[in-house]
Amino acid sequence: MIFRQLFEPDTFTYTYLLGCPRGGRAVLIDPVASEVGLYTSLLEQLALKLIYTLETHVHADHITGSGLLREKLGSKSVVHRDAGAPCADLLITDGVLLQIGDLDIEARYTPGHTSGCVSYVMNDRVFTGDALFIGGSGRTDFQQGDAGQLYDSVQEKLFSLPPDTLVYPGHDYNGNTVSTIKQEMAKNPRLGNGITREAFIEIMRELKLDYPKYIDQALPANQSCGHTESVRQG
Ligand SMILES: [Fe+2]
Repeated sequence: MIFRQLFEPDTFTYTYLLGCPRGGRAVLIDPVASEVGLYTSLLEQLALKLIYTLETHVHADHITGSGLLREKLGSKSVVHRDAGAPCADLLITDGVLLQIGDLDIEARYTPGHTSGCVSYVMNDRVFTGDALFIGGSGRTDFQQGDAGQLYDSVQEKLFSLPPDTLVYPGHDYNGNTVSTIKQEMAKNPRLGNGITREAFIEIMRELKLDYPKYIDQALPANQSCGHTESVRQG
């Protein structure tokens, strides 16, 4: 398997490239619009054809590159049915298995950060989007977020994975790149160490985070797969 973890520093976003060397096919998880040039040259260098762009959710902090990539490379955009992006080519639900060459990618519905969040499981690793961060979690105060639901998603759908499963989050603000399920179960201060549902809800209620910087531009754009005039021009 070909694997790359790519970082967009303005919004601390991780994008993941997964490729099958045998058939030369690839997917990108959570591509960012401003980085589309980088993705296209990387795909070319690696002789990969982009088949899907997989969104973990409709993002509030950056504009997705899925629409631009669809126009440039003919890739299909994939998002959960409840994410609120009917522009996508493929609307998925819990348990859907995507097969791209030798890559088998399972979608797990992990709502709570938003009502349409999914994590993607592939072999020894899981891409958790904004459900589970390394030593943290996504916020639950926008986009039909629900702290109790996020707690249930993480405990039931992610912490049930084998302990050595690698955790690749949608963002990291502290320079971490990868964790494991075992590490998060033991050490995540919000969700690990046997914390109760009530305690997690209380932590999330007390966070008092700033209004998301780009939400007013990013949300409407992402509901139409990243299509805005400024994205097309920029
Ligand atoms: Fe998010």
